[in-house]
Amino acid sequence: MAIDEWKALESQGLNELGASTDEAALRAWYTKFLGEKGLWKAAFGKMNAVPKDQKAAFGAEGNRAKTVLTAAYEAKDAEVKERKLQESLTTNPLDVTLPGRPRVRGRLHPATQILRQIYAIFADLGFQVYRTCEVETDEMNFEFLNMPAHHPARDMWDTFFTTTPGVVLRTHTSPGQIHVMREAAGKPVRVILPGMCYRNEAISTRSEIQFYQVEGLVVGEGVTMADLKGTITAFARRMFGPERQVRIRSSYFPFTEPSIEVDIDWPKDDPNRDRLTKGTGWLEILGAGMVHPNVLRAGGYDPEKVTGFAFGMGPQRMLMLKHAIDDIRLFWQNDLRFLKQF
Ligand code: DAH
Repeated sequence: MAIDEWKALESQGLNELGASTDEAALRAWYTKFLGEKGLWKAAFGKMNAVPKDQKAAFGAEGNRAKTVLTAAYEAKDAEVKERKLQESLTTNPLDVTLPGRPRVRGRLHPATQILRQIYAIFADLGFQVYRTCEVETDEMNFEFLNMPAHHPARDMWDTFFTTTPGVVLRTHTSPGQIHVMREAAGKPVRVILPGMCYRNEAISTRSEIQFYQVEGLVVGEGVTMADLKGTITAFARRMFGPERQVRIRSSYFPFTEPSIEVDIDWPKDDPNRDRLTKGTGWLEILGAGMVHPNVLRAGGYDPEKVTGFAFGMGPQRMLMLKHAIDDIRLFWQNDLRFLKQF
């Protein structure tokens, strides 16, 4: 290999580089000329065959050729990249005036929303919120509520029993009444007790194994059925509208005597009225009654001196009524298409 062959390699390289117009061709060019197994390396490897007195000049010329080729390659590479950028700017332009994507914001679960509405209404009526546990003893859930073992009324609540004998998941918020009275220790009581309840039911459009209840309890001297009626009416009007009529039917619960169920009249202009009220125009919203003397006693109160009323309502049922939701299972399915509507 003679020194002037570097010139030949150099001009061959520059020629072919000129013909390489895209990135793939550029990479191939680099491999061919300057790569590990490329022409330049091969040519430089012929140093051995060069006569001793020409080695230095041969090496210098080779390095010069390499510098020229590398510089030409880098210039061409930059040019191709710049062209590509310009192309993408014109063929696929970014519209910087487009509005940003809105962030999805979380929100309160509809059950939480209605619970808060209920708290607000009862707060105005002078009620405090009191929370008690979801795991209860059989005594609390049944016995102190005037249902001794084997009492047939226990069948009204399909119960989840735990592996610990005598410990159950509460089937209603009513055992909270006992906790509150024991803590109040003889003083007047005016509370609501919201919380989750559990029942061993087959899940269907109308029943779930877990659901909220809101219990109410008022105990004091001279508390009467009229107070119960006034409280429920005030509540129903705030929750369902100022025109609502309240209807009271007699009923049975072991922990109240007398026991009632409360209906409200449903707006006549609501297209769902007939379906919701099964044609009657009235809809049940809660169970209630005057606290049974045995329950007052279990709470540490003397039924000769004080009386009380209690009620239990299902907030999710109220939500279903307000929004004509016909499947209770929607609440805990966590389907955002449902939840987003509230
Ligand atoms: N605990 C009852 C239930 O789960 C509801 C209830 C009815 C609560 C009457 C009360 C009451 O406090 O007085 O079905």
